[in-house]
Amino acid sequence: MSDVKEAAKPAAGSPAPQKPQKGLLEKVKDFNAKFKEGQIWTSVFRHKLDETLRNRSLAVLSNVFLHLHPARINRDAVRYNFTWGMGGITFYLFVVLTITGVLLMFYYHPSKGQAYRDIMYLQHDVPFGNFIRNMHRWAAHAMIITVWIHMFRVFMTGSYKPPREFNWNIGVILLLFTMLLSFTGYLLPDDQLGFWAVTVGTNMARATPLMGSEGPLGPELGITAFNDVRFALLGGSIVDANALLRAYIWHCIAIPIIAAVLMIVHFWRIRKDGAISGPAPVMIESDLKGPVKTR
Ligand code: HEM
Repeated sequence: MSDVKEAAKPAAGSPAPQKPQKGLLEKVKDFNAKFKEGQIWTSVFRHKLDETLRNRSLAVLSNVFLHLHPARINRDAVRYNFTWGMGGITFYLFVVLTITGVLLMFYYHPSKGQAYRDIMYLQHDVPFGNFIRNMHRWAAHAMIITVWIHMFRVFMTGSYKPPREFNWNIGVILLLFTMLLSFTGYLLPDDQLGFWAVTVGTNMARATPLMGSEGPLGPELGITAFNDVRFALLGGSIVDANALLRAYIWHCIAIPIIAAVLMIVHFWRIRKDGAISGPAPVMIESDLKGPVKTR
């Protein structure tokens, strides 16, 4: 035994053994740990996540982004096969559309002749212009698909029933505005596709009851082709410069603002209606107090 101890001692006169050098990863971990105890971090994140249930709730409630979620939720609400995440994906696509849309606005002028040239310039000359344009286009197509699937899921899970019927109605208006966003965006490249889509779409508006020059009770109320809803949409009686400018203002300013406000109401309502609905709660053994009943 004493021989072993002797062997471990450094020989007289030899240099003291050096501490093993820390690897880069360990240094980063050390820095991270120290930083999280420092004043900057603790002044922003005031509660640790790894302590008590109360602390975890406080961590959520005291963070501006996390507090949008309830501190505690129904276990089923986070199951993908219940919500398919479709409402969340729809919102995410709206954010993508807002960011890429603002970037596109840097290059786009809503005037006849210039609009189409701007799109060509974006597509062929602006660095990443085609990429941004396609991101905007594909996100728009995807948002239409996801909002319908979201509505389908809400219907299939019966989540439109009280107390969520008001939020269902907000949803219906959101669906309408999502489609209007898509429709008004169609005209902006000022190409043949947009021109004819808007020609056909606004011609349908002639048949609107009460407000269309060819709709039920329209003519009886004195509505003509020069004061009907189609005229208001186009800013005239043909699809031309005024229609382009109106589509631009609706598409880039009015509808996004209205949709964003409605989304805030939609999310607030989800919280007020007791968070996302769920199937009848499934009890697991550890949730149950007392003897476990199997049936
Ligand atoms: C821009 C469009 C929309 C966005 C961004 C949106 C977003 C969301 C989100 C994030 C949720 C949480 C649950 C989930 O992800 O499924 C939700 C729930 C809900 N949405 Fe939407 N939604 C939109 C349109 C609609 C439409 C068209 C309807 C129906 C007509 C609708 C009705 C509802 C209802 C009733 C809930 C509560 C569901 C529950 O508690 O299970 N929403 N929405």
